[in-house]
Amino acid sequence: MSFRYLGNKTKLSEWIVGEISKIIPVGSKVADPMCGTASVSLALALAGYSVTAADALAFPVIHAKCRLLIKQPPAFKAFGGYNKVINWLQSIPPKEGYFFNEFGDAGSPANGRAPRLYFSAFNAARIDGIRESIANLAKSETINELEHSLLLHSLILSTNKVANISGTYGYFLKELSKNAQQAISFEPLKFETTPGNHSVLRASIEEHASKLRAEAVYLDPPYTKRQYAGNYHILETLALEDEPIAEGDGGLRPWKEQASDFCYRRFAAKAFRNTLERLNTPHVFISYSQDGQVNEDELLSIFSDFGRVTIHQQSYNRYRSNNRAKDGNLLERLYHIHRY
Ligand SMILES: C[S@@+](CC[C@H](N)C(=O)[O-])C[C@H]1O[C@@H](n2cnc3c(N)ncnc32)[C@H](O)[C@@H]1O
Repeated sequence: MSFRYLGNKTKLSEWIVGEISKIIPVGSKVADPMCGTASVSLALALAGYSVTAADALAFPVIHAKCRLLIKQPPAFKAFGGYNKVINWLQSIPPKEGYFFNEFGDAGSPANGRAPRLYFSAFNAARIDGIRESIANLAKSETINELEHSLLLHSLILSTNKVANISGTYGYFLKELSKNAQQAISFEPLKFETTPGNHSVLRASIEEHASKLRAEAVYLDPPYTKRQYAGNYHILETLALEDEPIAEGDGGLRPWKEQASDFCYRRFAAKAFRNTLERLNTPHVFISYSQDGQVNEDELLSIFSDFGRVTIHQQSYNRYRSNNRAKDGNLLERLYHIHRY
């Protein structure tokens, strides 16, 4: 299953959880309140921790619910099983609706702008048909809440595969790429039977840091100025099942109210301090890149106000023009604060 997501820790999750498990006994509760794709949440759950995952945006919450809370294929009683639902998703007819008009290459955006090439016209219409069908199932209570999340999770993952973008949904490519010309398709997903008791919620760290009850918190905040709410607007719209105004040439949903302070050079340090002041957990682990909005000295000075700080690092093969480790790779940092 592939996630196209800025700062996705899939490749680093084993290392991160390995470092955490040297300090926090397996079986304890660990929170991942900026969970994104939930890759670290899942790795923690697989290692035997009970995980509380959260994110400020809606679509990461859907990923986390499906990856943590669904431990085997749901019954989908009305369909006669999970595999039948996949066939049903495949067979839903296209419909020329909101996605077709706002995000398809033959659309006509409501604000009069040129068609947006996020998807082929065919895929955009398929997405419209599928969204409407999923919403109807939920409305008629033919599916339960987790089944509903699973259908949206599948739609988001399949949409990612045919999106005509280079990495994020900040803008679309000028010509339809090979992937974008493929028909959107669905396949059964794999579920992990993990031992812990997990929970998932949608909240900003500012809202719920003080309420988190866990032995440790893993923080993975944005470290560049790229706002997730704007760069993944289409996934947020799929998760929220709404039809917001699509603004400007790029058709972004209004996102400024969801802007993260961690993305602003002038607010990021304060955001770290506010978060750490509110957390009550004895241990805090933080992933942060060497080239983030807050420089290393400032970061260390903030962290050391809250406890004893140790740094763990791993070289990581990610394209960057600077900050390379000796072997040519970037150094990924994991800070550990053992609170006073
Ligand atoms: C670097 S990504 C996390 C990546 C994740 N560890 C993974 O492996 O996919 C940062 C996440 O923080 C979320 N975020 C940003 N500001 C936030 C805030 N104030 N409260 C909660 N989540 C926030 C973003 O929506 C994004 O999903």
